[in-house]
Amino acid sequence: MPNSIRELLAQFDDTAPLAQARTVPAAWYHDADLADCERRHVFGDSWLAVGRSDQVAEPGRYFTAEVAGEPLVVVRGEDGRLRGFYNVCRHRAARVACEAEGKASRFRCRYHGWTYDLTGRLRGTPEFDGVDDFRREDNGLPPVAVAQDGPLVWAHLGPTPTPFDEWLGPLARHGLDARMAPLHFVARKEYRLACNWKVFVDNYLDGGYHVNTIHPALAGVLDYTKYRTEIDAHASIQISPLDRTGDAVSSVRKGENAYYAWVFPNFMLNLYEGVMDTNLVLPDGPGACRVVFDFYFADRESDGAKEFIARSVAVADQIQQEDLGICEEVQRGLRSRSYDTGRFSVRREAGGYHFHQLLARKLRAGMGGS
Ligand code: FES
Ligand SMILES: [Fe+2]
Repeated sequence: MPNSIRELLAQFDDTAPLAQARTVPAAWYHDADLADCERRHVFGDSWLAVGRSDQVAEPGRYFTAEVAGEPLVVVRGEDGRLRGFYNVCRHRAARVACEAEGKASRFRCRYHGWTYDLTGRLRGTPEFDGVDDFRREDNGLPPVAVAQDGPLVWAHLGPTPTPFDEWLGPLARHGLDARMAPLHFVARKEYRLACNWKVFVDNYLDGGYHVNTIHPALAGVLDYTKYRTEIDAHASIQISPLDRTGDAVSSVRKGENAYYAWVFPNFMLNLYEGVMDTNLVLPDGPGACRVVFDFYFADRESDGAKEFIARSVAVADQIQQEDLGICEEVQRGLRSRSYDTGRFSVRREAGGYHFHQLLARKLRAGMGGS
């Protein structure tokens, strides 16, 4: 482990009680070596949401994804089983599936035409007779652990994944699985942000602290005094009763409560009655990230559904634009010589400190302890 990384990791105390805690140092938000450690030990060794169940609903349907810089393909086999593979041909490392999603009976590498079946076995190797010590059965696509839960498909690149049910236990324990079950995917939207991925996660996990200031329209529908955060294993769930006011936002943000759930490291879901968006934050180097929003609705068929969906997505987009602006500003501030660490609001920011603790522990464990 490089000394600079060892020093950076040592600068954060994950054992302090919240009232005494400080954030991870500002350098964690722009140091390239730390970003690389995160790629290997956090993103390369956690369950990550990589796609949707509707993309692999039938045999032969597949999607491609990239996790921690690794190209993957996830496919539903003829036997109905979901499988994941590195999307890397065993011959010269080209991709065997190039589309974002599709249907195939086999994967044919576009470079020299090797073919693999949907279980990953190498089936066709044109003009490859006479090669010594080469056996097709030893040259299948390397597998990756994948699992499906409700509308989402997850993948894990590490050698010893946490049991998947245990990983998503927090969502089930808070009844979110059941609330998600009747929802259908409708649309995807992507945002590029000039900030470290952790700035976006921090912003999400401040327990509503920025809602009144940054999101005035959203603030009107949340009962802020009753807004609370429940920490559960490697997840946290923010719950706010909704306050009905009859304005434009409340007409598309219904139900008893709003649920904002985060699962370490980079997955969030925002759930109201019949309405959900999931947010996946993907690092793009230390100073940038992409956030992928998938929008789900209970009703996408009725007469008013189209108009309701358009209004609901517009509300989410407005909130995201507000978050985007403040996140990019924070990233600039984190480069200032005047700032290193900050403190947490005990009332509001337990979720943010919990994220920093999980991150630091995962990095230290991945790098051989400290
Ligand atoms: S790289 Fe795939 S066949 Fe050559
Ligand atoms: Fe926000």
